[in-house]
Order: sequence, then structure tokens, then C-alpha cells
Amino acid sequence: MKFFIDTANIDQIKEAQDLGILDGVTTNPSLMAKEGIKGKDAIFKHYYTICEIVDGPVSAEVLGTTYDSIMSEGEELAAIHSNIVVKVPMIKDGIKAIKAFTAMGIRTNCTLVFSAGQAILAAKAGATFVSPFIGRIDDGSWDGVQLIEQIVDIYNAQGYLTEVLAASIRNPLHIVRCAQAGADVCTCPLSSILGLLKHPLTDSGLQQFLKDAQAMQ
Ligand code: G3P
Repeated sequence: MKFFIDTANIDQIKEAQDLGILDGVTTNPSLMAKEGIKGKDAIFKHYYTICEIVDGPVSAEVLGTTYDSIMSEGEELAAIHSNIVVKVPMIKDGIKAIKAFTAMGIRTNCTLVFSAGQAILAAKAGATFVSPFIGRIDDGSWDGVQLIEQIVDIYNAQGYLTEVLAASIRNPLHIVRCAQAGADVCTCPLSSILGLLKHPLTDSGLQQFLKDAQAMQ
């Protein structure tokens, strides 16, 4: 399973990149706004900076919701850097645009996916990635990981090439369960990635080893 970081924060992207396990980045308008980025030039510059840090897919989301606006924005975003993947919402015009981008050789990430039916449409349109939002499903007292399992099963049965990118990850257990479910990619906040490191027996075991190592010196 590939690890993407789900943030537009440069320091966090650099920290994850330094770990040596980062395969890509996802952003969305909320994450970009959180960094105080305003205006097209600043937005494009920020995406370029991210692409120069991480050598992997970097999802940049369109802001338009009509076919024409999604197409023109997506083409501009894709021209920023070869790492850019155009992130398109799961709406009717979005599906049409994904089909057209695919024909043009532009990679896409179909976002705001909450059902298996939506994931089938994204795959039929040729999306490079499909992004089911598992944390937001959990928020409604459903099991988001079950949706990942269902989509993985369908894609395997049908031979779809679209990669299942588990999004809206909230904790390390989400990452573990998505890996078990066969997700191709997990896009996570830095805190969830670092949470994978933690185990009290690792900490106490290391303390003991360090103490015993002292005795040998
Ligand atoms: O990038 C989309 C997704 O990961 C959003 O996560 O935590 O806002 O539901 P969240």
C-alpha cells in the first residue's frame, strides 16, 4: 500500500518525506485554505513547491463544478508539474471530465466518494484514483473501511485499473484496516502516520536495552 500525506502544510510534507516512506500528497480546498493561500498565482506556486518536494502523485483539486470549468482548470493544473493529478468531484460533470482527461492522458483523482456505485462510475470513466472518505462515513456511524473492502472486491472482480485511495483517515487503526482491506493507497494526516510508530512495549523495551547497554560500557 502506498502512503500519501493529506495536507498542504509544507513542514508536515517535508517531515513525512524525510521518513522515506512517502509516495505522494493529496490536498483539497479546505486544506489549502487552512495554509492561508489566496489567489491563483499563490495556489499554483504552492502546488509547484509540493511537487518539487515529493516525487510522486500530488492531487490538486479543481474548484469549478461545470464540465467546461473543470476541463479548463484541470488542464492548467496539470501543466504546473508532471506530478500533478487533477482531483475532480464525484458529480455528473466531473465524471464526464474524468473521461475526457483520461483520453488526454491527464491523471485524475475522483473525490468525495461515499458509495460503491460512485466508485464503479469513477472506474468506468477511467479515473486513476478513487477517493472514498472513510472517516466521514464513520462520523455517520457507518463503517468506512467496509466501503473500502467492497470497492476493492468490485474492482478485482471487474478488473478495473483505478487505484483505491482511502481518504479521510483519522487514526492509525484506519491505516491498518485499509491495508488489510487491500487499499492501493492511504492518504493520511501526519499524526496518523506517526501514530503507527507507537507501542508502549517498544518504549519500555528500548529503555531496558539502553539501561543494559550502559552496564556493558
Ligand atoms: O482529502 C480529502 C479527505 O482526506 C478529507 O478528510 O478529515 O476532512 O474528512 P477529512
